[in-house]
Parts: sequence; C-alpha cells; structure tokens
Amino acid sequence: MPQFAQRIGRARPSAIMQIAEKAKRLKAEGRDIVNFSIGVPNFLPGEHVYQAARESLASDSGQYGSNRGSDALLDAFLAHIEKIGLTGYRRANLGIGIGAKQVLYNLAEALLDEGDTIAFAVPYWTSYLDIAQIVNARVELLPCPPEQDYKLTPAQLEAALAKKPRVFLFNNPSNPTGMVYGKDEIAALADVLVRYPDTWVITDDIYNAMVFDGLGYHNFVHSRPELRERVIFVDSLSKTYGMPGWRVGLMAGPQSVAKAVATLNSNHITSIPEAVQAAAVAALTGPQDVPEAKCREFQAKRDQVMQAMDAIPGLVCPRPQGAFYVFPDISVAFGKTHAPSGLKIDDDLSFCSALLEAKGVACVPGSAFGEPRGMRISYTCPTPQLAPGLQRIQEFFAELS
Ligand SMILES: Cc1ncc(COP(=O)(O)O)c(C=O)c1O
Repeated sequence: MPQFAQRIGRARPSAIMQIAEKAKRLKAEGRDIVNFSIGVPNFLPGEHVYQAARESLASDSGQYGSNRGSDALLDAFLAHIEKIGLTGYRRANLGIGIGAKQVLYNLAEALLDEGDTIAFAVPYWTSYLDIAQIVNARVELLPCPPEQDYKLTPAQLEAALAKKPRVFLFNNPSNPTGMVYGKDEIAALADVLVRYPDTWVITDDIYNAMVFDGLGYHNFVHSRPELRERVIFVDSLSKTYGMPGWRVGLMAGPQSVAKAVATLNSNHITSIPEAVQAAAVAALTGPQDVPEAKCREFQAKRDQVMQAMDAIPGLVCPRPQGAFYVFPDISVAFGKTHAPSGLKIDDDLSFCSALLEAKGVACVPGSAFGEPRGMRISYTCPTPQLAPGLQRIQEFFAELS
C-alpha cells in the first residue's frame, strides 16, 4: 500500500464543520434545532451583484484569468481599502485567493519554512492552527483568557516577538470572540511591532466592516505607517457582503509578498472565475446598504445575546464589539449535571453536546479555538430564532445542579 505524505496526518477536518453536520443531521431527523454553530453571515448580497455576474456570463471570455486578479477587481479593492484608511497601495501590492482561507494558506506557504515559528493569540480561528500544522510550522500560542477580554497585551506581544517568530498573525475583529481592538490598543501593539523588524505581520481583518459602538476599524499601519513593509492585510467578501460561497479573498501588503501569492496561485488555482470577479467588483463598488444594514442588525443581535448572557448567574462573558460572535466562559457549568436529562457536564465538549441533545441548540466548544473554558455563539440565525435559542441556553443553565 503506498504511503500518504506526513502532512496529511497533520491535517484535521474542521471542528466547526463537525458540529454543524451533527446539528444538520438532528434537524433532518425532525428535531427542532437552533443553529448557533456555523460562522456564516446568513444573508445574500444585493441584486446588483447577481446582475453583474449575469452580465459577465453573457460576455464570458471562457479563458484563464490573471493569477493576481483582474485589473477591475484590484482597482475596486484599492478603492475599498482606501475607505478604511489603507492608502497608497497599488495593484502590485495586491493578491487574490479562493476566499481569505486560501490567501492565508498561500501566505503560510510563502512565508514559513518547516520549523519556523508563527505566533498568534488564543482563542484563535481554528484554521490558523490547522494551516500552520500542514506547513509544519512551530506554533507559539499567546493565551488571552476572558480575564483580559480575550485581547493580546503589548507585554505579551513583546515577549513573543523577542523570540523572533517568522510570522505574527493577528485577527481583528476576532473570530471566535468578537473582540475588537480600539485605536489606542492598536497603537500600543504597533509600537511593539516596529521594534522587531524580522517578523512578518498578517492582519486577518475580514470582519473589518462589522465593528459596533462607533469604535471604528484600526490597523497597525494607521498608527505606524513604516509597518507597511511587513504588514499583510487580509480581507474577504464572505462575511461583509454575504458571499461566503463565492469564495473571494484578497490581500494588500508588500509587493514581494503579493508577487509570491500570485506565483503560488499560478501553480494551483491559476485564477478565480470571471463571473465571480465581476460580482466581487459590483459588491465592492456598488451600493453598500446591505452590509451597512447587516452591521446594524448584528449590533442589535449582539445586545440581545449579551442581555441573555448577563442574566445567567456566574457566567462571565466579555462584551464583543464586532463580527457576529459571542464567546462566554462557561466553566461555571463544569462538574454539574443537567438534571432533566441526567447528562453530566465535564468540559466544553460535554457542555455543547448536552446542550444540543437536551435543548436542540448547536454551539461550538471553545477547545476548537484553543480555549476550553469557552463556547462560541454565532448569532446570525434568522431573527425569530434568536430569542428562543437564547432562552433555551438560559433554561439549560438553570437546570444544572
Ligand atoms: C477570522 C477568519 N479568517 C478567515 C476566514 C475565511 O474566510 P473566507 O470565507 O474568505 O475563506 C474566516 C471564516 O470564517 C474567519 O473567521
């Protein structure tokens, strides 16, 4: 029997998808399931996006496209990032991918040799660890517990960078915590970053359009423009525009990095489809009413979720200010039993499994994100399902003894 490459032994199927699959199966069996597990925006883009795709198909060239992205898409992205203060970039600074996930994968391939270190905060988005393991990088995890609002401190960053990791990967707003770094927090971290010129900085900021409470989106290059030489900003149409299935991810950074991404693309994906690029241009340049309305809706839903969490005795839940996740510390439930079902809660996995079995509410155990005290609630479900789902979580806690 021929052998697999060692790397496939290090690759794991996404833990989030496994929960979502279980929820789907229970639903198919006729159970009433509220799904707070999968991180999808749950809305569709405006009609102009579909129109652009249809028009593109009508005049389709049928050919391979550019490894870097069409000029129209690159120009649309340049104009888009200018609106969030990322100015002075040119087409040569940009790269594309089949979603931000593939952009991140390309960056890992481009920047990390086997054994090089990549540092990132915990809780982390699951794919960071998975991608790092596939490329056989050494991972330096920087624990950011609920006591520090799941945010990295400048002192932690300093200690991590002193060990000279090849890459520091940063995520703002955060999946899974929804936390957002304010202007001063970004400036304080940027002041540390400038002192360590041997480390690349990837800012995976795909939720940058979903920031609440007037906090605004801030990037390291806003505070310290000299960091542009090393900062790679990663963006995606998936969440902002309700287009996760269209698979459009983008990056802006040093020309050398953009070139490396295009070279890798030329060896695997080649390009992204013409009609998809046309739809992406329409999303980026067309009316922004859908994403803006969704951001307001998510802020209101965040308030609703927080109200429910705050009403649960003993539950600690830092208040998120972006994305569409809430990440309570559920450790108050550990060691207890859910009385009506007799299900015992030992940890986050048994908690989420019991919650799904007993109440039909699917959430993702925090250990999927490296924080086993937590649980991720993704609150983009249809609005009528939100209150009943939250009520079931409250009841579940009330029934623990
Ligand atoms: C933090 C973060 N980065 C990247 C991605 C990947 O996004 P895309 O759909 O563009 O591949 C996700 C998707 O959930 C995410 O949460």
